[in-house]
Amino acid sequence: MKSAIFRPEWYTEASYFYKEKENLFNRVWNLSGFTNSVKSPGDFFTLQIFNQEIVVHNIAGKLRAYLNVCPHRGGPLVVEKFGNGAPVCKYHGWSFRDGGDLTGVSNIEWFNNGGEKDSCGKSLKTYPLTTIGPFIFIFIGCNPIPIDLQFSKEVIETLSSYEELSASITSEFEANFNWKLNMENVKDFLHPYYVHEQSFKPLLGFEQAATILMKKSDKVPGEFYKKTTLKELSFIQRGEFSVSASQRWWTKFIKITQPDNCFQNIFLFPNVNMYSVSGTHYVVQQYLPMSPNKFLYRLNVSFPEILEKFESKDLLCNLLEIERNVIREDEIVLDRLQKSMEAKMSEEHFAHGDYENYIMEQQIYMRDEVYFE
Ligand code: FES
Ligand SMILES: [Fe+2]
Repeated sequence: MKSAIFRPEWYTEASYFYKEKENLFNRVWNLSGFTNSVKSPGDFFTLQIFNQEIVVHNIAGKLRAYLNVCPHRGGPLVVEKFGNGAPVCKYHGWSFRDGGDLTGVSNIEWFNNGGEKDSCGKSLKTYPLTTIGPFIFIFIGCNPIPIDLQFSKEVIETLSSYEELSASITSEFEANFNWKLNMENVKDFLHPYYVHEQSFKPLLGFEQAATILMKKSDKVPGEFYKKTTLKELSFIQRGEFSVSASQRWWTKFIKITQPDNCFQNIFLFPNVNMYSVSGTHYVVQQYLPMSPNKFLYRLNVSFPEILEKFESKDLLCNLLEIERNVIREDEIVLDRLQKSMEAKMSEEHFAHGDYENYIMEQQIYMRDEVYFE
């Protein structure tokens, strides 16, 4: 066994939460959503991250990202999570034709006596935006890094190979534990044996190993040192999956671009887990931090490009429900993990196993590059 890397405070205290915003989320590209949600001019969706609402908007064919805060009095430019419209403030009608500078004020005399048409440099707060395949990334900090410093060639090429997504469904719910517990959980390849014994495990081709009797000893756990670069924290894993594309009735209606006989996970550090289920549908999970013990769980299920129309709506709802039920199983345990962190045990209470290397590498990165401990 290995000594624990983490400290319980990382999961409970506001000071760490602020460091995560400043030193991590402000310094990397964040997945915000999918190009198929903003295909037509006027289409938009919003994303809540660190309690800020960001709008991703197709404005005359160009994708823009801006904070949903008007520079007059803080009114919203959009009030729905998805929709179509122009960037015009819902409070008093200021308009921002290109998704940036103030370009129109109605009732100008109410603002400037004599009707001067001066915008005084007012504009929306905008963010750099880029796409890889159908995935939209935004940069919420100040100095965007080249995206190939964040993701390996393999990750970028695989994301690009997804091509266009088609029908998709998104659900959002609050989870009452720290977002990192979820990201660590999806890299914890042992937990499906126990947490998803009935639901997910039977599909994964796992063999249940026997429990071995331990002898009591005072041996001190070893140390784990491996340092990992930002790029290495996002990676792809392919695992056996018992249902291949040929066994799904809707395969003939869609374009399969991802491996058709495995479960392909793409972990995007810091807060995204996406997977392709034998190429027949995709799931994207985003863990959007709200406070040390709360995050917004955004869950999306989508199909690859649809070649021939079929009744996809009910199927999408069913697939989403299946995912949600698996997540409920995780929540029962992760809620307790949060309570364990709040109990503020000393880190010596805990120990890691060798199978947790990916989790420990992530924690070492947090310790050294985010918290500077
Ligand atoms: S708050 Fe936006 S126009 Fe007044
Ligand atoms: Fe799980």
